[in-house]
Amino acid sequence: MNKPFYITTPLYYVNARPHIGHAYTTILCDTFARFHRFLGEEVFFMTGTDEHGTKIDQAAKAQGKEAKLYVDEMVPVFKKLWDIIGIRYDHFIRTTDPSHQEIVQTILKRLESKRDIYKGNYKGWYCTPCESFWTQLQLAGGKCPDCRRDVQELCEENYFFKLSNYQLWLVDYIGKHPGFVLPKTRQNEILTFLEQPLEDLCITRPRSRLSWGISYPESPEYVVYVWFDALINYVSGIEYSLATQKFSSFWPADVHMVGKDILRQHAVYWPIMLKALDIEMPQTVLAHGWWTIEGSKVSKSRGNTVDPFEIVNRYGVDALRYYLLHEVKLGFDGSYSEDLLVERFNSDLANDLGNLVLRATSMLDRYFKGKIPSTAGQDHSPLKKKVSEMLEIVRNQMRDFQPEGAIDAIWSVVREANRFVEQKKPWVLARERQQDELGNVLIELLETVRLLGVILFPFLPMSSRKILQLFGMKDDPTVKEFKWGTLKPNTQIDKGEPLFPKVE
Ligand code: MSP
Repeated sequence: MNKPFYITTPLYYVNARPHIGHAYTTILCDTFARFHRFLGEEVFFMTGTDEHGTKIDQAAKAQGKEAKLYVDEMVPVFKKLWDIIGIRYDHFIRTTDPSHQEIVQTILKRLESKRDIYKGNYKGWYCTPCESFWTQLQLAGGKCPDCRRDVQELCEENYFFKLSNYQLWLVDYIGKHPGFVLPKTRQNEILTFLEQPLEDLCITRPRSRLSWGISYPESPEYVVYVWFDALINYVSGIEYSLATQKFSSFWPADVHMVGKDILRQHAVYWPIMLKALDIEMPQTVLAHGWWTIEGSKVSKSRGNTVDPFEIVNRYGVDALRYYLLHEVKLGFDGSYSEDLLVERFNSDLANDLGNLVLRATSMLDRYFKGKIPSTAGQDHSPLKKKVSEMLEIVRNQMRDFQPEGAIDAIWSVVREANRFVEQKKPWVLARERQQDELGNVLIELLETVRLLGVILFPFLPMSSRKILQLFGMKDDPTVKEFKWGTLKPNTQIDKGEPLFPKVE
């Protein structure tokens, strides 16, 4: 029995409503999760929310609410978006879940007993919006080097985690596991960062300064640093330390999907935490790029967010998924443009895919009253070969974490099938009463459409469902359903509605 495929999103801060950047990370993970389900594997896909720390505390205060009440109101907004955009997760973890909090405390005790944690003085500069401490040297002209905002000087006693103990080990580990941090350019960035001595990580905040967090075990005057708390979700969500079946069957994670802005936490802090706890490393930490607008990262603090709820309202779920998955190569930044989304909608979705499906089913309707004809069969089916090659390309592209490449392979079949219609001219065959040839052409076309419905399931689940429904097939297809030649004569297939009515 193979180990289940375990994939995670980062935990989203609930200090603001989700925007397209968050939707992007989650859609990527959902697509990989669906693809592995499609391959017949057991999948565990976890997402959730990061609910402690200064940002959340401040957001709650700004609304005059208790932090817990505030987060309880925000979490459903995230869940609603995931439902709307077809995200099928297996577990939604919240860092305020009592089980998570307990595991964080157990882990801290364990690290203390291993002497990986010590108490010391922290002197430095703190950027509240970024929640980052900086040394004097790291500051950029006296400002936060990340966001260029003002920083505050701080000196306080705190608990520290001995990252430095494991620096050499980590460099060696990354060197020996080229698939651990991807893409390669990001791996190189991490290795360059690790050329400098690693400072130990301050993992507490005095409760007097920040009360919203998990209490440090035996020292309730401290709360746990939000990043230390949140990273642990990846094991607490599968019941780590409770000697559970769940943990042993799901860990190690196959993919931690993260944005490039949070790679250091996932490729430096997290592996070291795991190493210190004698837990196996995840297979891959995969960093994607940013969606930007006019060169700036789409983000709440820059005030340039794009609301995915609105985009879905205007163009539908699959339009958003198609645009985000296909427009950039995973790992690179993409410049977000609604105009371009509309352009792709009209050309790739409406003209190419939507037309193909409608053409195939309408011609069957027109020439055979919607019933698959029985024909003499054919020796040669040009699309069949293309379709089976597509499956292999999609598999390889997905293995290499390139969903955009997989989509290209699918669209190359979509376009080929449209060309096939143009070449075969079924309307001429009908006029000339070449019934057998006409039947063969339509069957060929409909088989292609049907298998497109199957393969689209991980990427565009709504369109996949609509196509499969036309053929009376169930949702959630697996690769077993990807078989050419199973359309039975006399099956009735309705014309259906256009999948993507054009947008002006
Ligand atoms: N709470 C932390 C993660 C803790 S994981 C243990 C966090 N949250 S976040 O809400 O700020 O960001 C979550 C994810 O959204 C990150 O992967 C981040 O890269 C992604 N995005 C946020 N804005 C983005 C864009 N503009 N473009 C693409 N993804 C971006 O960080």
